[in-house]
Amino acid sequence: MSSTVSDLYRRAFVTGASGGLGAAFAEMLLADGVPVWGTARERAKLAAITARHGGRFTPVRLDLADGAAAERAFLEMEQAAGGFDLVINNAGYGAFGAFAETDFAVWQAQLDAMLTATLRLAHAAQRGQRARGRGCLVNVSSLAVEFPLPYMSGYNVAKAGLSAFSESLLDENRGTNLIVIDFRPGDYRTAFNQAMHSTVPASSPQGSRLARAWQVLEANLAAAPAPERAAADLRRALLAGRRGTVRSGSFFQARVAAGFAKLAPASWRRYVAAKHFGQL
Ligand SMILES: NC(=O)c1ccc[n+]([C@@H]2O[C@H](COP(=O)([O-])OP(=O)(O)OC[C@H]3O[C@@H](n4cnc5c(N)ncnc54)[C@H](OP(=O)(O)O)[C@@H]3O)[C@@H](O)[C@H]2O)c1
Repeated sequence: MSSTVSDLYRRAFVTGASGGLGAAFAEMLLADGVPVWGTARERAKLAAITARHGGRFTPVRLDLADGAAAERAFLEMEQAAGGFDLVINNAGYGAFGAFAETDFAVWQAQLDAMLTATLRLAHAAQRGQRARGRGCLVNVSSLAVEFPLPYMSGYNVAKAGLSAFSESLLDENRGTNLIVIDFRPGDYRTAFNQAMHSTVPASSPQGSRLARAWQVLEANLAAAPAPERAAADLRRALLAGRRGTVRSGSFFQARVAAGFAKLAPASWRRYVAAKHFGQL
């Protein structure tokens, strides 16, 4: 097993590096000697990490709301850098609201950004890595694939789609030096809930159920591990050369609940989730 990520990878591209999991991934890679190109929608949000790491961290403006521009930004950096042998598709956000009560434009925007634009970046990344004959693509999905989050239908779809996409790539890349990791975090204490696009009309007939679900989502995040733990899990997976699904989070979420979701009948899983989120 390699001892640092720089034994395996020379240059990394990390989306959503301005905070939370993406910043922790970037710091972990930098500490291991891997130069990082990290993105945010505003370059100013990357000023602190850029200052801390001098020329080893390159800030990149990238907004998944415009997939074509995001791809251009990636390709421009890739050409200037000489190729990214590690790409971490991490950027993302949640949208909270009852499906029918929320304007469809909210769901459309979420799927455009978190599924279509994210796949577009993966497409560009895979082309480069295929041409060079090696590389690793990490798609940051979620344990929400196994335990869908309440009133976050667009998010659940985007992450289920992203994990299904990783499965397709794993199959296509079998027998090659192209590694794909379907990284599924459980709850982590980040700004994810603060950044949530929330639509709960004052007159919502489902208002009290939404409020209870939101309280539990908030409590879960407040009690969750720090993002450095996810970075340590990803580092271990990279060093071990793992490919496929990597679950990360508290022992209960990543092991017990994920095991239960796999083995229990779907009706039990739905019941347990509804009870947990105060929906019964
Ligand atoms: N925290 C959790 O419990 C958890 C659990 C499972 C999965 N995840 C996934 O982990 C990833 C990171 O989430 P996080 O918890 O670290 O959240 P976070 O602290 O809110 O960070 C999100 C990052 O994504 C970027 N971002 C958000 N919307 C974007 C857009 N439209 N275009 C480009 N960049 C965008 C943000 O950059 P700006 O500076 O531009 O805002 C920020 O760097 C997400 O894909 C999330 O779904 C998180």
